[in-house]
Amino acid sequence: MSKQVVLGIESSCDETAAAVLIDGELKSNEISSQIDIHRRFGGVVPEVASRNHLLGVLPIVDGALKKAGVTKKDITAIGVTYGAGLIGALLVGVSAAKALSYALNVPLVKVNHIEGHICANYIDHPELKPPFIAIVASGGHTSIVDVSSYNDYNLIGSTTDDAIGEAFDKVARVLGLPYPGGPVIDSRAKNGNANIQFINHKGRKDYALSYSGLKTAVINYMHTLSQRGEECNIDDVCASFQTVAVDMLVDTAIRAAKDGGYKTLVLCGGVAANSYLRASIAAAGASNGIKTLYPKPILCTDNAAMIAMRAYLSLKEGKNIADLTLNAVSNLRVSR
Ligand code: KG4
Ligand code: ZN
Repeated sequence: MSKQVVLGIESSCDETAAAVLIDGELKSNEISSQIDIHRRFGGVVPEVASRNHLLGVLPIVDGALKKAGVTKKDITAIGVTYGAGLIGALLVGVSAAKALSYALNVPLVKVNHIEGHICANYIDHPELKPPFIAIVASGGHTSIVDVSSYNDYNLIGSTTDDAIGEAFDKVARVLGLPYPGGPVIDSRAKNGNANIQFINHKGRKDYALSYSGLKTAVINYMHTLSQRGEECNIDDVCASFQTVAVDMLVDTAIRAAKDGGYKTLVLCGGVAANSYLRASIAAAGASNGIKTLYPKPILCTDNAAMIAMRAYLSLKEGKNIADLTLNAVSNLRVSR
C-alpha cells in the first residue's frame, strides 16, 4: 500500500501552523506564532490575526513540506481546522486547504480543533488507545471529553463561563503581566506561596466548571489592595490563583474518570503545558490508580501536527471527508 501523507493546516487563533504526518508518524511541525504581534494589544485582535494568517499560510505549508522531505505532489490528504475559533482566522486555513485539495485532487478532511488537541497525545504516546477521558484546557475551551473510540468524542462537562486559559490571561492582565498570561503566571507562581484564599471550589457534584468567579475574586482582591494603598505580592497572587484554577480542574477530571471506570486520563490544550497542572494530575492519577498522559509543551499549544493526526484517524474510517462547500464554524462543539 502506498504511503498516507497528510498535510495538516491550523489557523483558528493566533498560530499559523502546518505539519506533515506520514503513515501516522510526525515528520514536520511548523508553527508561526503571532504572540509578539498581539502582545501590545493585551490579547488577540481577530482582524489582525486573519491578515497575518493570510500572509503566513502558504509559506508555512511550504516550510512543513520541505522539512518533511516531500513535495506537494506527495500529499495524499489534507486536514484542516474548520472550528472552533475566530471566524476570519479559520477561513484563511479552510480556504487554503480547499484550494490545495482541489489543485492536487486529494481528499479534504475537516477537523474539529478540540478533537485535534486530544489527538496530540497519540503523537507523543503511540501506545495510547481509547477509551479514555480527555481534559481539554486551552484559551478557548475547558472541556471534559469521553473518548470512546478513535472517532467518537462525547462532551461530558465544560466550563459554564470563562475557559481556564482565558482566566490565566485575564488575571495576568490585571496583574500587569504580559500576554499570554499562562506561561508567565506559571513561572511567577514558582516563587510565590498559595496563601490567599480566593474562592472555595469544593462541593460540585456534576462535571461543570466555572472560572469567572475566581477571576472576579482576584480582580476584587487587587482593587481592595489598591484602595488601601497596600503593596501586592504578585508571586503569591499567581500561586494562589493557579492553585485553585488547577485543583478545580484536577478534582473534576479525576472524579469523571473514576465515575466512568476509566483507567486513563489525558490532558491537552495550551494550559496542559502548565507545570503545576502536569505535576498535580500525575500525583492525583497515581493515588487513584489512573494513568495520566500529556503531550510535550509544543504539542499542547496550537499546532498542526495534532490536526494532521485527527485527520489521519478520520481517514482510516472514512469519516469527516469534506468537499469544496466546507465552511468555517466559529462555535463548533465536540460532536458525538
Ligand atoms: O491551546 P491554545 O494554544 O489555544 C487555544 O486553543 O485557546 O491555548 C492557549 C492558552 C492561553 O490562554 C495561554 O495563556 C495558555 O494556553 N497557556 C498556559 C501555559 N502555556 C500556555 N496556561 C498556563 N500555564 C502555561 N504554562
Ligand atoms: Zn487550541
